[in-house]
Amino acid sequence: MSDPLTIGRLYGRRMGHKLRGGQSALVEELLPQLSVPDGPLNSTVLFGDERPMELEIGFGAGEHLAGQAEMRPDRGFLGCEPFLNGMVGALQHIAERELTNVRLHMGDALDVLNRLPDASLERVYLLHPDPWPKARHAKRRFMNTGPMDMIAAKLKPGGEFRFGTDHPIYVAHAMMIMSGRNDFAWQVRTAQDFLTRPDDWVETRYERKARRLGHEVWYFRYLRT
Ligand SMILES: C[S@@+](CC[C@H](N)C(=O)[O-])C[C@H]1O[C@@H](n2cnc3c(N)ncnc32)[C@H](O)[C@@H]1O
Repeated sequence: MSDPLTIGRLYGRRMGHKLRGGQSALVEELLPQLSVPDGPLNSTVLFGDERPMELEIGFGAGEHLAGQAEMRPDRGFLGCEPFLNGMVGALQHIAERELTNVRLHMGDALDVLNRLPDASLERVYLLHPDPWPKARHAKRRFMNTGPMDMIAAKLKPGGEFRFGTDHPIYVAHAMMIMSGRNDFAWQVRTAQDFLTRPDDWVETRYERKARRLGHEVWYFRYLRT
């Protein structure tokens, strides 16, 4: 396996606008209760019992993570996002919906993936990853060989990797990366399979913005073989 943590450097801002009172309270009180602990991880460490787990990389404002967690309360959901304002968004969804099956990591998803046992995840989501459109920044894209090796290792056989984007350069890059692998089977029969959002795929903020701008959005589902 090539070293997946070589892209583990995070780029961009961690903090946007200042937090309001209620938001600071969520960060100070709820976040410590839901934070992924240090050290080796598994379902018992994270959720207190053995249950199927799913992980979202870069959940943005957390609406997809919370939506999935609400749909499947018997599963454990791990959300990773380095951006504090995104963390606040997720905490608000979790508090409003009284979700007890979500754990959060404010940082690089690779740090969490690296500490999970192999073949421990039912699903991994990567929705609208930062595109890094310049060719010289291609190594910063999450979909590269190292991180995909890591995702492949952590998914159970038959587990699912979902990836969505509206960015043509990212799609071309992703297709190139995925077509070189034999450990994922793309779930596609007709163009509708990647042009139409599956029913259980919650719309994200970036996706809504892309649609508003008139962009096409593409939805990819791969099963771990
Ligand atoms: C373009 S936004 C999309 C957010 C959300 N998925 C959506 O669709 O609305 C990409 C997000 O990925 C996060 N991100 C970038 N690199 C990451 C990494 N290595 N681990 C976890 N999150 C990451 C960024 O902070 C940012 O919030």
